[in-house]
Amino acid sequence: MASEQTVHMNGGQGDTSYARNSSLQNAEQNKMRPLIEEAIADLLSTGASLPRSMVVADLGCSSGPNALTLVSICVDAIRSQCLRSRQPPVEVCIFLNDLPDNDFNMVVKSLVAFQQSHRSVVTGVMPGSFYGRLFTSGSLHLACSANSLHWLSEAPEELRRNKIPAYDIDEHVRRERRRVVIGAYARQFRKDFTLFLELGAIELAAGGRLVASLAGRRSEEPAAEFTHAWESVALVLSEMASKVRYD
Ligand SMILES: C[S@@+](CC[C@H](N)C(=O)[O-])C[C@H]1O[C@@H](n2cnc3c(N)ncnc32)[C@H](O)[C@@H]1O
Repeated sequence: MASEQTVHMNGGQGDTSYARNSSLQNAEQNKMRPLIEEAIADLLSTGASLPRSMVVADLGCSSGPNALTLVSICVDAIRSQCLRSRQPPVEVCIFLNDLPDNDFNMVVKSLVAFQQSHRSVVTGVMPGSFYGRLFTSGSLHLACSANSLHWLSEAPEELRRNKIPAYDIDEHVRRERRRVVIGAYARQFRKDFTLFLELGAIELAAGGRLVASLAGRRSEEPAAEFTHAWESVALVLSEMASKVRYD
């Protein structure tokens, strides 16, 4: 296996593809609609005349229908805002970002179809990590991200160094190391998320907005109703991870 991690969602449209197995994530995306509409209304309600163009991005778009959900909401909200204020349509430039191994072939095809049905919209993909620079300074008006920011840039170095897995199959060892593992992952998340916000501060235009949603929980204890399902998933993933060799 290459030293650089190349994990990605399943591409294409087959039975096991992300395109056909992402309805839960889609439900989360749709919950972001009012937040995106509010952000657009704020962005476009500052002056008497609207800006001529806007740049919008989805960070961690994956492939399939979900890749276009957030940017479609953005484009609809911008169009409604223009109609409400009786102004000519604002040109919108959409960028879809994900890691380079994402199924961008599929993303590009759906972007072409989207562009054909939406006048005043131009589109592009932006491959790369959102833990690095993606856009020129001050160029983004609205960045959105759903179900992606809990992906860390790497497993915590302190755990890797000591060969401690995120989930030990041995229940006793797992309980013993619980605090250490949770603490290490919490610190890694803080580091990654801080970097993400710092990069956003550079790349967002003045007054630009970020609307993000990611999985999380308030307590260290997994919610009781999810415990069984997550334990089974963790067990399988842990077994698979223990078989991966990093050369
Ligand atoms: C669960 S999918 C979410 C896809 C889509 N946003 C949705 O809500 O259905 C998470 C996506 O984040 C991408 N991702 C993870 N880490 C990333 C990074 N550092 N930079 C860009 N994309 C990343 C993954 O490749 C994956 O496609």
